[in-house]
Amino acid sequence: MKKLLLLPLVFAAAPALADSHGSTLPAAANPKWKAECGACHVAYPPALLPERSWRKMMGSLERHFGDDASLDPASVKEITDFLAQNSAERSSRSAKILRGIGPADAPQRITETPWFQRKHDEIRADVWKRPKVGSAANCTACHTGAEKGDYNEDRVRIPR
Ligand code: HEC
Ligand code: HEC
Repeated sequence: MKKLLLLPLVFAAAPALADSHGSTLPAAANPKWKAECGACHVAYPPALLPERSWRKMMGSLERHFGDDASLDPASVKEITDFLAQNSAERSSRSAKILRGIGPADAPQRITETPWFQRKHDEIRADVWKRPKVGSAANCTACHTGAEKGDYNEDRVRIPR
């Protein structure tokens, strides 16, 4: 109950944020998704990949980037539905995020989408390799608000 009350307050307190580059997370996050898909890395915003990417990923969780991320069928269904309902197609930034992804392509990495690469084209190759970053997939290394879905450039701190 507490969480339900808190969310609108967070958004009300930061209207500029929500309007411009705002939270990339859906207003009503799914607790199962947050717990399961945030266990090994930050729970990546569903709006950053097309629905077909999420469906493909959720269909092969036992082989997930070299890890076994498999779940019981009910959880797979609940999380797949949540991802599909909040995928890039349903985002206000949909056109920007989907641009350059072919209609039959189902990229499995946000970090390999043309949108991600455009947004990060000022970051030199060696920065991604710094020990405290390690990989472009490590969003929280630079985006201090990533856990809350806040990727605003004002909150970026690139570790040395
Ligand atoms: C057992 C650990 C584990 C769990 C649980 C897990 N993942 Fe991952 N995931 C990984 C690893 C490891 C990578 C690769 C990270 C890297 O390249 O640095 C990854 C990468 C990803 C990427 C690609 C990141 C990029 O490069 O853009 C996405 C998207 C993703 N996971 C989504 C999910 C979703 C959705 C779930 C929940 C169903 C989930 N993950 C659960 C371990 C996990
Ligand atoms: C090495 C540090 C670093 C990592 C790791 C990183 N980013 Fe970024 N990101 C940046 C910087 C710097 C910018 C700001 C670019 C600019 O000035 O416009 C940015 C911009 C963004 C923006 C646009 C914000 C805006 O206000 O327009 C989004 C969204 C974003 N990143 C998402 C991600 C996601 C998702 C991940 C992980 C999959 C990630 N980033 C990983 C450094 C990083």
